[in-house]
Parts: sequence; structure tokens; C-alpha cells
Amino acid sequence: MDSHLEAWDKDYASRGRLWGGAVMDLPLLPEGSVVLELGCGDGKTLSALPVGGKIVALDVSLEALHLARRVRADANLILADASRLPLREEGFDAVFAFHVTGHLLASGRRALAREAARALVPGGRLFFRDFCKQDMRAGQGEEVEPGTFLRGSGILTHYFTKNEVEELFCDLQPASIDTHRWKLRVKGETFVRAEVGAVFLKS
Ligand SMILES: C[S@@+](CC[C@H](N)C(=O)[O-])C[C@H]1O[C@@H](n2cnc3c(N)ncnc32)[C@H](O)[C@@H]1O
Repeated sequence: MDSHLEAWDKDYASRGRLWGGAVMDLPLLPEGSVVLELGCGDGKTLSALPVGGKIVALDVSLEALHLARRVRADANLILADASRLPLREEGFDAVFAFHVTGHLLASGRRALAREAARALVPGGRLFFRDFCKQDMRAGQGEEVEPGTFLRGSGILTHYFTKNEVEELFCDLQPASIDTHRWKLRVKGETFVRAEVGAVFLKS
């Protein structure tokens, strides 16, 4: 496994649950929807997804899946790479890719986008969120590819533009692409976090 992927397992093993707070503005899904979450981590988004349909969630980190299991007992959890899905085609009404795509290198991001499109049923929707170039952390660490930074933890993060997101998911129809900013107070200082949020439709 690539070292930037192994870095996640080490991080979860040493720090436990990493992602706190509530997930804002989750979309409403029709009753009985079959849902896939890519890179579910310790289950922050997973815990907030509606109950009622079938939920499959995957991550490259086994430690993350152990943590996710504690918050979402009814999900099918799979140890897998989102750029090589071990799933049949066209099975999902909704695919969530929240803060996972940006942790892959460019070739992996393109593969994830193709796999996400493949996994959706016609009429299904992909929900995407990831940090963008206006984020407070953009530019921190070693730039290993344009706009992609490796930090001390060994974790990679790419910071997107809206155009890049649209181009990345070019197999799908864009329904909305927006930038969302919020303030974060750290040790008395105010910083700005910024993400691109997008919804794509499979025709
Ligand atoms: C920032 S966390 C996001 C957690 C979750 N999506 C949420 O919104 O609560 C990113 C997760 O992506 C996982 N990840 C990174 N690269 C991956 C890949 N190629 N395939 C699957 N998961 C991956 C990491 O292990 C980590 O748990």
C-alpha cells in the first residue's frame, strides 16, 4: 500500500476518532435509497446518513472501519480503495465522497471519479465535498503535485478549484457546484476553512 494511505491507519491507531462536530446540510434521500460512502473514516458523515435503505461504506484504513462500526452498526463496511471498487456496476442511488478525493494523487482522483460514476444507477447522484484553494491549510507542507501537499503526518491533501471538480467528474452531469467558507478559531486567532461542495447526476 502507498505510504500516504498507510499514514491514515497510523493516525487513527494513535489518535482514535479524528473527526468531530456535526455534518451540515446533508441531502434528503428517497426512502429505501442504496447508498455508498467512499472514505468513510471514523464515521462522522456515515453516522448522519438516513436510516432506512442499504448503506455500504468503505475506507483504506482498518482502524477507521473499527471506529466507524461503533457509530453505525447497520452499515456494510468494506476495507477497500475508492479508486478500485470491489463492487458491481450501477448499484447505488447515491454516492458520497466527502473529504476523500483530495487525499489521492491525480491519477487516483481520476480513477475514483470513474469508479463513483460506474457505481451509480442511472438517475443516481454523487455528493462531493473537499477543501479548496481558499482553505487556511492550502499550501502547507511539501507540494508533491500541483495543488497537492504532503504534511508531516504523511497524509496528502489536494486543494481543488470548482473547475477542477467539474472536469474530474466529467462522466456525470453537474447539478450544482458551490464554495462554502466558515471561520475557525485556533488559540485566539481566526482562520478560514473553505470547501467545494458539488452534486452530480448520472444520466
Ligand atoms: C478526512 S477523512 C473523511 C471521513 C469521512 N468521509 C467523513 O466525512 O466523515 C478521509 C478518509 O479517507 C480515507 N481514504 C484516503 N484515501 C482513500 C482511498 N484511496 N480509498 C478509500 N479511502 C481512502 C482515509 O483513510 C480517511 O479515513
